[in-house]
Amino acid sequence: MGIVVGPHLLSTKELNKEQCDYILDTAQNFVEVSERQIKKVPTLRGRTIINLFLEASTRTRTSFEIAAKRLSADSINIGAKDSSVSKGETLIDTVYTLQSMKPEIIVMRHEASGAAHFVASHLEHSVVVNAGDGLHEHPTQALLDALSLRQRLGSLDGIKLTFVGDVLRSRGFRSLTYLLQKYGATVTVVAPPTLTPPEMKKLGVNITCNLAEGIEGADAIYSLRMKHEYLADQFVPDLDEYCKRFLITEKIIQRCAPKALVLAMGPFVRGTELTSEIADGPRSLVSTQVTNGVATRMAVLYLLATQHATRFCKNIEDPQEGGQ
Ligand code: CP
Repeated sequence: MGIVVGPHLLSTKELNKEQCDYILDTAQNFVEVSERQIKKVPTLRGRTIINLFLEASTRTRTSFEIAAKRLSADSINIGAKDSSVSKGETLIDTVYTLQSMKPEIIVMRHEASGAAHFVASHLEHSVVVNAGDGLHEHPTQALLDALSLRQRLGSLDGIKLTFVGDVLRSRGFRSLTYLLQKYGATVTVVAPPTLTPPEMKKLGVNITCNLAEGIEGADAIYSLRMKHEYLADQFVPDLDEYCKRFLITEKIIQRCAPKALVLAMGPFVRGTELTSEIADGPRSLVSTQVTNGVATRMAVLYLLATQHATRFCKNIEDPQEGGQ
């Protein structure tokens, strides 16, 4: 029996290295589809995917929708304002309602940590993809980041990655850390002490508040947005002061990590987390991450939908029908 992913994709913590490799290899195969003139394959024809985004999103929501369309699936998007959640319907009643329409997959973003697990534990016929749940996990973000790193570094084995910024409120940080640790990566965190409580050590990461020290020798630096909307909670009393100590500039990278690549967890704010020189420069993987988001989500939808078919469908067609 081959490698099985699923039935749901809720976190990277629950994946093993072989499953990560399998998803990344599948995603790499799908990269080419988006480079064609006609960016469409019949792979998921007749399958239905619902994107239930109850929290704001640009990249994740759009790329899941594009991924579904490029696979020829029928995709439906539901946001918080246009769903009956806004009338007081509970999350579980909403997903029961959606499940009754027989979608193979419900892609879900929600502000509550654990929301995707909660929904998955109640559904019997649809699989759930976590597109970000509160402060918990964002597995497809980590997979697209890993694909972007693997393409440029050749391998994820033993790499050194340094996160800079708001690790405390970053679900993407948690998901990528869990994923890279399966490859023996060294993960370092650079952030003000208010954002790195003692419990963070349990993740097995190195922690420092010194940017130069934290990025020294890094293969890649990952910028995390300082959450302006949370400044009122006083983790960082003054954004200008934060920038003086943590802004990622070409000058500091040249001095400490001259070959380092730079990733960013979009959305990012130029001049607060990283300079435009960095974001638009040759070491930046920012636009590569977004491009790989489509291929990665195609891979996840393809693997989960075809494995869904083997579990639930009476008349199983060849999942590769028509090829890629
Ligand atoms: N990185 C990410 O999840 O971006 P969006 O919130 O725009 O989807």
